[in-house]
Amino acid sequence: MPHEDRLRRALRGLLLACALFGPVAAAAEDLARDAAALRADVPHGVVLYFKHCVSCHGRQAWGDGIRVIPALAGQREPYIIAQLAGFISGARQGSAVHGPAMHDALQPPDVKRAQALRDLGAWLAQTAPNGAPEEGAGQALAAGKRAYAEGCAGCHGTDGAGTLEGTPALAGQHYSYLLTQLRGFTAGIRTHAAGTDKAALGTPDQQQAMADYLSRLRLRGAAGGDK
Ligand code: HEC
Ligand code: HEC
Repeated sequence: MPHEDRLRRALRGLLLACALFGPVAAAAEDLARDAAALRADVPHGVVLYFKHCVSCHGRQAWGDGIRVIPALAGQREPYIIAQLAGFISGARQGSAVHGPAMHDALQPPDVKRAQALRDLGAWLAQTAPNGAPEEGAGQALAAGKRAYAEGCAGCHGTDGAGTLEGTPALAGQHYSYLLTQLRGFTAGIRTHAAGTDKAALGTPDQQQAMADYLSRLRLRGAAGGDK
């Protein structure tokens, strides 16, 4: 195919994507920006969390590996706020099994507002991370470490704590959850970082290895020691 045709097709795809997802993504960004500009009321975040979130994410916000529910404790606040805004607007749909539950959890009027997102984000970011998440089988940790260092550490940090603006911490996240998200990015169910190539997210084996490796890193302040 001549170069110009390819370019035109790519452009048409991009315009279509903007028309379909543009308003949704913009709504999420507006909500996240409003939330970030507010003053955090951490005790209010705790109240909201125990009212609306604890049944799934757990008393310590450590999630549940078996149920593929992510740990939130110690996650970076701007990322938490952006994800909550994304679930509300539909910019992040979540998996077929779990997405609707997460979407519904954010519908009560006391949660679906910028102040609530800020308060929840602030509390979750400062609460102690999980020290014993679900891990993988431990069979390809060296390969996982290598693939992660080459393709991911620039944004997510060598220690997996998140480096670039907007990137999540991955260290100490549950293995099954990490793997589900990586597969979701590859399948196009969820959008990874702008400008990243799907192929760069690795082969199925590499994704397993990286998820396993990351689940064994620990965020600073993780409960239960520094494995
Ligand atoms: C019914 C169970 C359920 C409830 C209730 C629930 N969540 Fe979730 N949450 C999930 C699941 C499952 C996911 C993963 C969704 C997916 O990607 O498919 C998730 C994802 C998230 C994420 C994204 C984490 C990441 O690493 O990307 C955040 C943030 C979050 N939840 C916060 C909350 C907050 C705050 C509340 C309460 C207002 C809440 N959740 C209530 C089940 C729940
Ligand atoms: C250019 C920077 C960049 C690079 C390189 C990058 N990521 Fe990401 N990653 C991001 C951003 C930004 C997000 C948040 C996406 C969103 O807003 O939903 C993300 C999200 C994720 C998530 C979801 C975490 C969660 O809590 O739901 C996983 C898992 C992940 N990346 C793994 C990887 C792996 C593994 C690699 C390397 C193969 C990689 N990333 C490379 C920027 C990057």
